[in-house]
Amino acid sequence: MHKTIQVIHDEHSSISAMLQSMNLMIERGPKDNPRLFFDVLKAMLFYIEEFPERLHHPKESKYFFPAVLKHSPELNETVDSLEHEHQRSSNMGKDLQHLLLAWELLGESRKPAFIKAAQEYLNFYFNHMHIEHTVIIPQALKTLSASEWAAIDFHFASNVDPLSYSKGEDATFNHLFTTITNHAPAPIGLGDD
Ligand SMILES: [Fe+2]
Ligand SMILES: [Fe+2]
Repeated sequence: MHKTIQVIHDEHSSISAMLQSMNLMIERGPKDNPRLFFDVLKAMLFYIEEFPERLHHPKESKYFFPAVLKHSPELNETVDSLEHEHQRSSNMGKDLQHLLLAWELLGESRKPAFIKAAQEYLNFYFNHMHIEHTVIIPQALKTLSASEWAAIDFHFASNVDPLSYSKGEDATFNHLFTTITNHAPAPIGLGDD
């Protein structure tokens, strides 16, 4: 498998795992430990908002999408909309963090607004990755040459992107991922319920 595809799959798996855990947390609710509930949800939102912004989207936007478009200009609209979503996702994450704080600090009356926005955010992310898997990746596999794959694979293997990446961040995010899942209440994680 091309390194690029493997990295996209791995990173989508991490993002999906965190989104699914977040969904389970929200369905489960604060129960009798609101502090743990809000702390874990905040950490999950931070991860989802930060990790794709710094490590995932820039590689797709800078190296992968342009190579696909070069061969398949008919995908212009689809790629445009994916690019637009890369720009939007960070603001959506920040808005959601605010809505979560409002629920935590102001109480139940602010819960419905958070739940509604969280559902939209989850759908937004799952749909974004679904289009990359079902439209962009298959088209890339059909059209890119061996030398084009080699060039993109190089960037995906080394995570080279001076604007968005500092050395060692992938390890830092892996550590954060484990910390969050370990602290999430059962059955999502290993933390005390
Ligand atoms: Fe993307
Ligand atoms: Fe992606």
